[in-house]
Amino acid sequence: MAISKPEGTEDLLPESMRFYRTFVDTAFRVFARSGYAPVETPLFEQTDLFVRGIGEATDVVSKEMFTAISGANLQKVLAGEKLKAKSRLSLRPEGTAGVVRAIAQNGLVTQGGAPVKLMYAGPMFRAERPQKGRLREFHQVGVECMGADDPSIDAEGIIMLMRFYEQIGIPRENMRLLLNSMGDATCRPAYRDAVRDYILAHEDRMCEDCRTRAEANPLRAFDCKKPDCKTIMADAPLITEALCYDCRDHYERVKTYLDASGIAYREDPTLVRGLDYYTRTVFEIQVDIEGMGSQSAIGGGGRYDGLMHEIGGKDTPGFGFAIGYERCKIALEAAGVQTASASTCDLFIACVEESTRAEAFTLAQRCRDAGLSVEVDHQGRSLRSQFKLADKLRARKVAVLGPQEAARGAVNLRDMEQHTEELVQQSDLPQRL
Ligand code: HAM
Repeated sequence: MAISKPEGTEDLLPESMRFYRTFVDTAFRVFARSGYAPVETPLFEQTDLFVRGIGEATDVVSKEMFTAISGANLQKVLAGEKLKAKSRLSLRPEGTAGVVRAIAQNGLVTQGGAPVKLMYAGPMFRAERPQKGRLREFHQVGVECMGADDPSIDAEGIIMLMRFYEQIGIPRENMRLLLNSMGDATCRPAYRDAVRDYILAHEDRMCEDCRTRAEANPLRAFDCKKPDCKTIMADAPLITEALCYDCRDHYERVKTYLDASGIAYREDPTLVRGLDYYTRTVFEIQVDIEGMGSQSAIGGGGRYDGLMHEIGGKDTPGFGFAIGYERCKIALEAAGVQTASASTCDLFIACVEESTRAEAFTLAQRCRDAGLSVEVDHQGRSLRSQFKLADKLRARKVAVLGPQEAARGAVNLRDMEQHTEELVQQSDLPQRL
């Protein structure tokens, strides 16, 4: 049997690839206006980076990471040997930890300097149970800003994210921006304990997962989809009532900036997100579009003022978000927005008979060198079939090259839309097109 693609992965065929490029280009253009510059970090990092950065108790780290082992190290592992930290590698499940590591390692944040603003795009890997909108290899476009703790950074990021969604065509009325503050090292520990105690007080009615989470990661119980857990968690203590003065002030100022820019949001005190590094602002964009099922989050992010320190760098505040490409594409298609676009070919050079084939080939090279996208027949087709092929390739013009045209250094140039034809010198073709 032919070997098929791994479960939970997708081939980005030329049509999808064209849209992916448009998607990333559009995002980068919008984010560059706020000073974000592109960066690329490795697809795999030391496992410890994710364990310490994202959190050992998160689903992403405890259940969904793909381990990357070199051939030589695999032999060691099979022989029961323990690998050194630098050889324990994992495919990146998200982009933030790697970008923050790169900022720390390259000393990009300087004292008294402007905040470092970086954007990235690429594949991420999570060994989740695949379903529509939930893949094992998926693509994100994200941004990270380090070196500023002002709420204006959070608001600026959220605003440019919403501008991007609008620009790419997600209907504004189908989007919901959820906003919350998760507090910080001053106020969150006490809140976390309060939620843990609340879960323990109701544990007889809660699911196994939530009971286990009570100690390690009690806030995740807010995300449990089981009806009983949902009912119980609806009355759990809320973070908004537990925020310290500084966190409350930060949150209020983020909202003030968003209000001033006319950005609509819904406060959701139960929004906790699945990654441990968040402090203060967290947000998620969900879409209300039929067919999205439970995978309605098309992007999310927040502030992570403790992450750099957690992974061994200097204490530096940070903020960022990531957009899920595949989910946005599903949302756009469900909303009736065209995402597929066919290739365009500037010119098809058709030869009337075999004797002009070599000249057609050379002419095609000259036109390509002049910057045109050009196709020729490679299969000895009849002139009629060459026109059919040109049509299929959506060629804008067809240059017909017969012995008479060749003798005059010209072609008969046919406009495929206007259905007009004229004799054009071969050397004039690039300008004419
Ligand atoms: P996240 O919420 O885990 O955040 O992922 C961001 C987006 O990636 C999600 O909203 C969703 O659209 C998409 N996504 C996540 N998992 C999958 C999957 N298995 N299949 C398809 N799409 C998926 C982060 O990754 C953070 N790094 C965002 C961030 C940046 N926070 C601060 N800076």
